[in-house]
Amino acid sequence: MPRAVRFDRYGDVDVLKVVEVERPVAGAGEALVRVKAAGINPGEASIRKGLLHDRFPATFPSGEGSDLAGLVEEVGPGVEAVSVGDEVIGWTDRRASHAELVVVPAEHLVPRPAGVSWEAAGALFVAGVTAYAAVRAVGVSPGDTLVVSGAAGGVGSIAVQLARRGVGTVIGLASEPNHEWLRDHGAIPVSYGAGVADGIRAVAGERVDAFVDTYGGGYVKLAVEKLGVAPERIDTIIDRAAAQEYGAKTEASAAGSSPEVLAELAALINRGELEVPIAKVFALEDVREAYRELERRHTRGKIVLVP
Ligand SMILES: NC(=O)c1ccc[n+]([C@@H]2O[C@H](COP(=O)([O-])OP(=O)(O)OC[C@H]3O[C@@H](n4cnc5c(N)ncnc54)[C@H](OP(=O)(O)O)[C@@H]3O)[C@@H](O)[C@H]2O)c1
Repeated sequence: MPRAVRFDRYGDVDVLKVVEVERPVAGAGEALVRVKAAGINPGEASIRKGLLHDRFPATFPSGEGSDLAGLVEEVGPGVEAVSVGDEVIGWTDRRASHAELVVVPAEHLVPRPAGVSWEAAGALFVAGVTAYAAVRAVGVSPGDTLVVSGAAGGVGSIAVQLARRGVGTVIGLASEPNHEWLRDHGAIPVSYGAGVADGIRAVAGERVDAFVDTYGGGYVKLAVEKLGVAPERIDTIIDRAAAQEYGAKTEASAAGSSPEVLAELAALINRGELEVPIAKVFALEDVREAYRELERRHTRGKIVLVP
């Protein structure tokens, strides 16, 4: 029987377990994918802890995981876009990808280009489409200066690179160990903490035009009040309260979620124009350790599970 991550109640990483489950069956319009790699995301930890119960309640026993890459093992009736044996990148909205086998709607799958590693492919969806939507929301153009908070995290590391394609200057807020990575990817690193606004102003030149916030913790307020960024050119993927207070945008995964965006990001990786940094790869059995690491909140890029 195939193995999958399950949890039976809200709680800390200790509620996560890997169990044998019924083999899923592809229905009409669906494909069964044998997962080669699946990224993990902070939102999954928040759901598992019950912190998002009002908006995204869990039903038990719950699976988890959105991101996936793997091999199509079966297709259901009416599926023509993918065939058995295809190497695919995709996603599920059913909290199910942290497993050996997952059933997904065929339209949630795009081909895996040969130049995209399984790990990058499996980690691409949530962080990739979120970064894409956030950068698009602030509308960057040549000559602009843009700041990204959480610049070396899963979403931030991709946002920095996407923004770098369209603007003059990208300033990335990150801890010291990530500064070299940011420089190597065309961004100017600035440490967060006390004095961050002065640090940004010191390298920004005349003005800051746009701000992508992937961390929360007061960056929307800082962007408006200390950096003078227009609220419509600020996007936060995490701080909805601040967005409401200041009139900033909240475009995130839902706004970017489409096979077209996923395929576009995969093509950029394939051409060597986008890197998904892989911080660590864990076996599915080590799912607790993987989230322990993620929940320290200092991951560079993505953590990936391999069944
Ligand atoms: N709404 C959506 O659709 C959506 C989608 C994806 C993610 N999210 C949310 O967005 C957030 C980021 O996700 P992610 O996957 O990018 O997380 P992540 O990979 O865990 O990244 C965390 C980042 O936070 C930075 N950080 C830690 N402490 C900080 C501080 N005090 N000040 C500033 N930055 C700090 C870290 O930087 P250093 O390592 O340099 O310290 C790291 O880059 C999460 O809260 C997640 O739930 C929302």
